[in-house]
Amino acid sequence: MRAMARGLGGIVAAALMASVVSAAVEPPSTVVTALPLATAQNSPLLVSADMRGGIDLSGPWHYSIDPFRAGLAGFHGETPDLGQRRYLDIDVAKEMASDNRAMYEFNLDHAPLTVLPSSWLTAAPEMRHYQGLVWYQRHFDVPASRHGRLFLRFGAANYSAYVFLNGKPVGRHEGGFTPFAFEVTGLLRDGDNQITVGVDSQATPATVPPPVTDWENYGGLTRQVRLVETPDTFVDDAWVRLTRDGQIAADVHLNGPAAAKKTVRLRIGELGVDIPGTTDAQGNWHGAIAAPAALVRWSPDRPKLYDVAVDAGEDHWKDRIGFRTIEVRGTDILLNGKPIFLRGISLHEEEIGAAPTRAITPASARALLGEIKDGLHGNYVRLAHYPHSELMTRTADELGLLVWSEVPVYWMIAWDNPATLATARNMLAENILRDRNRASIAIWSVANETPVTDARNSFLRTLVADARRLDDTRLISAALLVDHGKGPGAPVMTLADPLAEAVDVLALNTYNGWYTADRLSDLPATRWNVPTDKPLVFSEFGADALAGFHKPQKFSEDYQADYYRATLAMADKLPTLRGMSPWILKDFRSPRRQNPDFQMGWNRKGLISETGVRKMAFYVLSDYYQAKDKAAAAR
Ligand code: GCU
Repeated sequence: MRAMARGLGGIVAAALMASVVSAAVEPPSTVVTALPLATAQNSPLLVSADMRGGIDLSGPWHYSIDPFRAGLAGFHGETPDLGQRRYLDIDVAKEMASDNRAMYEFNLDHAPLTVLPSSWLTAAPEMRHYQGLVWYQRHFDVPASRHGRLFLRFGAANYSAYVFLNGKPVGRHEGGFTPFAFEVTGLLRDGDNQITVGVDSQATPATVPPPVTDWENYGGLTRQVRLVETPDTFVDDAWVRLTRDGQIAADVHLNGPAAAKKTVRLRIGELGVDIPGTTDAQGNWHGAIAAPAALVRWSPDRPKLYDVAVDAGEDHWKDRIGFRTIEVRGTDILLNGKPIFLRGISLHEEEIGAAPTRAITPASARALLGEIKDGLHGNYVRLAHYPHSELMTRTADELGLLVWSEVPVYWMIAWDNPATLATARNMLAENILRDRNRASIAIWSVANETPVTDARNSFLRTLVADARRLDDTRLISAALLVDHGKGPGAPVMTLADPLAEAVDVLALNTYNGWYTADRLSDLPATRWNVPTDKPLVFSEFGADALAGFHKPQKFSEDYQADYYRATLAMADKLPTLRGMSPWILKDFRSPRRQNPDFQMGWNRKGLISETGVRKMAFYVLSDYYQAKDKAAAAR
């Protein structure tokens, strides 16, 4: 059991394991059942794997579509035809040339190539709207002189992944936005190896998210695939943080034959921290010391990161970690004990450019987050609606942006389906376990705009409890819906969501003046009936605008700018408002948005166009945040 996963408690682990096996909607084929399902409870975590050595498998991969999933099941649902098994470790052309009885209806060696990580939507024109199963394959060399252990680690695969190595089953994973890993030490051969990955983008009523959303479903291996090398016994999880009572605390979990009763050392050289310890019988160690007086706390104004190391025998785990506290006191959000207003914006995982493929690089992460930090004078970003690339959260650490991180429990989830709950719980655990060392992350969100029912309340309360078990240093929230009523002139908005009492920060999405017939001039006088015992943030508000279109009507830059002025004036009147993340920094692809004059498949609520052109409203918000920043500095 993992150090902090222990914090999840046996109940959660059992629930996860009991239900995830039945996560698939249709009865799984023999191929699928032969692949063990990777979850946060049962697979290597490899925290900070991006800081470990290994082989990066980015680059050209062959791909082959399989819309009827013939590689997973035959036409009666049992084992697939031999001629459809793309993961066979064979040279198809050679086999067929040498035996006229052989027949294969694939040949990945001769199939088209695409460069990973990326979504297949941009691999070729005919792939732009493909949703379903695609098989990827490549070869890679492994030196004969190997030592220690080797893991295939996937940054993400959207949505389900089926992994084979040299024709043998390795494992499978469900969830499009969190990492997973499989040990392959015993499957690798000296020299040439063949990896085959089936990725199925198809959402179903049981998946998280469900089929109906408001963003493009980028199927594919959208984040790095790496062969990660570790010693026989290694640091699989290490969570090092500043606690609210002023301690630097560490929880370490070792994986391997010598994990138990092993000497470990936590080192933070710049602070003179060097703490020895010994793991228990399960390979876990907890250590804590009073924070040194010299500690510089991380903040957006001073995003100080420290080199942190955990030594365990041959393994020298490392990470770059910022130390800060985030808490709620009354209606204030406190960063390092001081009230802060979250000057933010929302963001989908989509790079700036005319044809994004959801392949975030360090440069594209900096381009997006730099627009928030420097362009908008922001200190906060809502990474919507799913866990973003770890490159984004590392870049937020470095630039100094607080982060709202969320799982895609979005709109119409199958609240009564135990498999769906298990998928959501696992996704939340994978997200938190991946990013707990990221100082930038301040808020874990468990849902977005979900309709209030008893089943939904129970489902979300379970997620809130899991988040609190996994991480007692951050705030919990969810983007809630409000009831829109009509007052004498201005709207009357009421938050009547029972989940409000379970979260630390109230978050509301509001679109008065865009999706409603409210006059913009009425917005500042809007009356809000919300609980006043905890901080409130606007998790969304926004209006569409086609960059360059200027007319006194919706979808123009002028209307979007007027909408922002009116909504910000309304926001200024809310006494418990402590932040906002308007919807959204950049226009993003959405199949829902098909007005041919303005949208053409893009949601245009961005303050910048998909190619980065700033709209008038960008400057309205930028000026507003600059004034807020100056006012806070003057206090
Ligand atoms: C909703 C939803 C977003 C969506 C936005 C919109 O609030 O949370 O995912 O894109 O509104 O309508 O543009």
